[in-house]
Amino acid sequence: MSTIERLEEIDLNITSRCNIGCSHCLFAAGPEKDDNLSLGEIESVLEDGRKLGAEEVHISGGEPTIRRDLEDVLRVADSNGYFVRLQTNMWAFTPEMLPLIAETTDEVLTSLDGLEASHDLIRKPGSFQRTTNSIDRLLDAGVRVVVITAVQRKNYQDIPKLVEFLSDKGVNAHFLFSVTPLGRATQEDVVSVTEWEKLVEKLYETYKAKDLSTDVVCELHHLRGDESFTFNGAECRLYTRNHAIVLPDGRVYPCSMFVTTDKFLGNIREESFEEIWSNSPVWSFYDNRINDPSCDNCKLIALCKGGCPGYSYLLTGDIAKHDPRCELGMYPVCPSWKLNLRKATLSCSTWRVMKR
Ligand SMILES: C[S@@+](CC[C@H](N)C(=O)[O-])C[C@H]1O[C@@H](n2cnc3c(N)ncnc32)[C@H](O)[C@@H]1O
Ligand code: SF4
Ligand code: SF4
Repeated sequence: MSTIERLEEIDLNITSRCNIGCSHCLFAAGPEKDDNLSLGEIESVLEDGRKLGAEEVHISGGEPTIRRDLEDVLRVADSNGYFVRLQTNMWAFTPEMLPLIAETTDEVLTSLDGLEASHDLIRKPGSFQRTTNSIDRLLDAGVRVVVITAVQRKNYQDIPKLVEFLSDKGVNAHFLFSVTPLGRATQEDVVSVTEWEKLVEKLYETYKAKDLSTDVVCELHHLRGDESFTFNGAECRLYTRNHAIVLPDGRVYPCSMFVTTDKFLGNIREESFEEIWSNSPVWSFYDNRINDPSCDNCKLIALCKGGCPGYSYLLTGDIAKHDPRCELGMYPVCPSWKLNLRKATLSCSTWRVMKR
């Protein structure tokens, strides 16, 4: 048995369809896709999730707002007592949806992938304006808004100005992630480790002493051995089993690093979510901790613990090998760890890293 805690959060990807089709989408979502969880399936995952202890649900896709039954989905999540986070590109968002969102949704996550020109190039012409207008309306209505930016070659230069623009607007949090080269994103879209480190350092210097209402939160790739951030519950999700990903075709994973592999724990179309999460035989694959003799003489092994098993598996085919992203003097960290620049706190859980 692993160091199982309790399930805390479910990422529920209710559709693979999308009304945009961004150039970097890791799910390669688009109008031609048609996997959807049924309302009944959503209901039973959410009910089982509560029995397993989950308190947060992140409703995403694809693009969830294109579902005609979005209202039912939000009401089921809300009535089961979840902290409900809806992630949307805002393309189909209308002011008429505001009362429903204010009533059922605790937080709206949306995406801005740069200033207007680069965002519209990556996403869709006109979408920057639509998204920023909707952000303003949601903030005016008192809804919490978190903006996510997938940092990539096409928008790297925009980031400092975008952070300033969003903190001036007063969004509750701005999350910066580096593009993962999966789906439609390629290695050419990815900014280098050095560029990422420079960006985080620049933002950290700008924001660390400021008393902002916006939490500026960055994904990390590497840490140096002498860095001293405050860690808050940062353990690999494969061992804590606190975060479930449910895909629109019903497959269940413990971490998004594995969603392109066949290592799903089970499919909710074949057995219940509770049964999958509690008893899947595939947990024995995830219980293989990194154990690589080539780390034996590394001074950073106590901090690094071999790095991210997801990267080990994706890049070497062996989950027990050390994470090949090792760099001289730096150790690779979980890409789900988020550094809150304002507070210098690091955590793997979204909710632990920002104030609410
Ligand atoms: C898959 S989308 C689904 C929700 C909604 N359609 C949207 O775009 O906000 C969820 C988030 O993942 C981000 N994303 C998509 N592909 C990515 C990739 N290859 N690497 C990192 N983030 C990615 C998107 O930019 C978005 O912020
Ligand atoms: S990132 Fe979101 S909006 Fe863009 S194609 Fe993927 S699902 Fe659609
Ligand atoms: S990204 Fe890697 S280190 Fe982080 S939870 Fe997933 S497998 Fe573990």
